[in-house]
Amino acid sequence: MAKLKVGILISGRGSNMAALIEAAKAADYPAEIAVVVSNVAAAQGLKIAQDAGIATAAFPHKGFPDRESFDRAVSAELEKHGVGLVALAGFMRIQSPWFPAHWKDRIINIHPSLLPAFPGLRVQQQAIDAGARISGCTVHFVTADLDAGPIIAQAAVPVLPDDTADTLAARILRQEHRLYPTVVRWFAEGRLSVAGSRVAVAGVPQGATLLFSPDP
Ligand code: GAR
Repeated sequence: MAKLKVGILISGRGSNMAALIEAAKAADYPAEIAVVVSNVAAAQGLKIAQDAGIATAAFPHKGFPDRESFDRAVSAELEKHGVGLVALAGFMRIQSPWFPAHWKDRIINIHPSLLPAFPGLRVQQQAIDAGARISGCTVHFVTADLDAGPIIAQAAVPVLPDDTADTLAARILRQEHRLYPTVVRWFAEGRLSVAGSRVAVAGVPQGATLLFSPDP
């Protein structure tokens, strides 16, 4: 069967992108990375993608008169590569409502908190400042509302008493690198269905493990 073509949008380091590229190397992985697009020409992730032989494109957003014209140019690039799923991976640019509407139910994002807690920026520091005992990461469908689309899957990690934003970010990132390739696989296998704000995942055992922190 033809593999799903995934387009990844990045702004920087690209470690989640790299995790998707790595996962897609497996012969039985149902998706391939067709193109990586960045709004930052110097994004480290673009080099990683190029070294992996993947098509890349940079659209410095300053060259566009408004958000929607930038979004339409990115969209045209994705469509040129036959993309069927857009995966935002550290893409730090707010999109016009046009983009998620155009890619409705075919665009996902990974965010380093357990949404709806801690949307926005510096979210690991937000979790520490709030005294949260557990944080994690969320993969969700993207809608016009920032960090608020239907949640597909989450992974949790403890917040430890001596955590800094960096140590917590590193612990969460390890789970991001497991969760994102898993969700892209589910999408490619046609397991996800959206009903309002809820997402059903077909044929996957529901996690039933309780996570306590501190551990009683
Ligand atoms: C990741 O932690 C990702 O969840 C976060 O940026 C980091 C990008 O790292 N995304 C957001 O905060 C989006 N709201 P990466 O470039 O190494 O994948």
